[in-house]
Amino acid sequence: LNFSICSAYRSYDLQKSLYDNSLATNGKEYTEKMFAYPGKSEHHTGYAIDVTSPSMNWGLSQDFVDYPDGAWITEHCSEYGFIIRYPKGKEEITGYMYEPWHIRYVGIEVAKYITQNGLTFEEYLGVA
Ligand code: DAL
Ligand code: ZN
Repeated sequence: LNFSICSAYRSYDLQKSLYDNSLATNGKEYTEKMFAYPGKSEHHTGYAIDVTSPSMNWGLSQDFVDYPDGAWITEHCSEYGFIIRYPKGKEEITGYMYEPWHIRYVGIEVAKYITQNGLTFEEYLGVA
């Protein structure tokens, strides 16, 4: 398996440019589900990373999980303290589309608890 981190810490200005580009290209409804408003992204904390691989042509796509590398991330990231931050079927709770590439560091113990119990970070924190 061959992974690469394609996005990690983002400044406010970088998030704003991603958000504004998406607004111009994809419109408001899609953009609000795909990008956090500048200032509200987990990428500002440095705890979130986007992971990609050759099977994704080094891009980001929801079918990442259907390839061995993306499936490995879903299955094993908690062993390294990361969670799939925006899981499938929990879009109403997280407010974002399923992102199999976006993982967030919460520590091994919490990551395993969240993953084994099928929770979102919001549910774990009691803010859902
Ligand atoms: N794609 C995630 C939600 C972000 O922009 O932080
Ligand atoms: Zn991300």
